[in-house]
Amino acid sequence: MIPAFMTTNVRHMTLPSGQPIEIRPADPTEIEALARLRHDGWHDAHAAIVPAALVRVRTFENFAARLADMLGKVRVVGPLGAPQGLHLIAGDELYQFYVAARARGTGVAASLIADAEARLAEAGVETAWLECAIGNERAAKFYEKCGWRRSGTVAGRLYIPNGTFEMNVWRYEKRLTAGVGP
Ligand SMILES: CC(C)(COP(=O)(O)OP(=O)(O)OC[C@H]1O[C@@H](n2cnc3c(N)ncnc32)[C@H](O)[C@@H]1OP(=O)(O)O)[C@@H](O)C(=O)NCCC(=O)NCCS
Repeated sequence: MIPAFMTTNVRHMTLPSGQPIEIRPADPTEIEALARLRHDGWHDAHAAIVPAALVRVRTFENFAARLADMLGKVRVVGPLGAPQGLHLIAGDELYQFYVAARARGTGVAASLIADAEARLAEAGVETAWLECAIGNERAAKFYEKCGWRRSGTVAGRLYIPNGTFEMNVWRYEKRLTAGVGP
């Protein structure tokens, strides 16, 4: 149940199972749960495919600090305190996109990305983009299923605690039109 103060900007959707879900703004009380979701999701997808030096700095504390800085832009699916997924938009970029292991393969991710695409389109973005680690095959398959196209391999600059970490990444793009999403 979402408290009344959070009902602005809530998008109601239905999973293929028929279960209703809501995508809503993040709440400051759930930073720890969101940081856990992001930390675990990042390591599930990246630990085996990116350099060890990057894995070492992707600590829970690092994710919690970053989330606290960006919380106002984070959108969440799932009940308060028990999030099933999150996304974060930065300008034209779908900057963060994570679904908890227990919610993968359920359609939660498709609903979450529909919310992100709708918000990008509402903000006037015509072509949205995202970066994905080379070899993150599950994410790549998911994005392609949702109509995103790999436009190439580019030099990514990833935030790390004392600067940036450079690594080639896949760039994905999707052309949006007003009216994307529910
Ligand atoms: C990426 C993510 C959001 C996708 O959500 P999801 O619920 O797993 O997505 P779906 O199950 O709908 O789609 C994934 C597809 O990849 C397939 N897949 C699963 N494992 C795979 C693998 N190792 N290689 C290739 N495809 C794989 C699935 O079968 C599914 O395809 P299908 O619908 O044809 O069966 C989610 O897996 C996640 O949060 N992963 C960890 C964090 C992450 O990688 N975030 C993205 C950063 S760019």
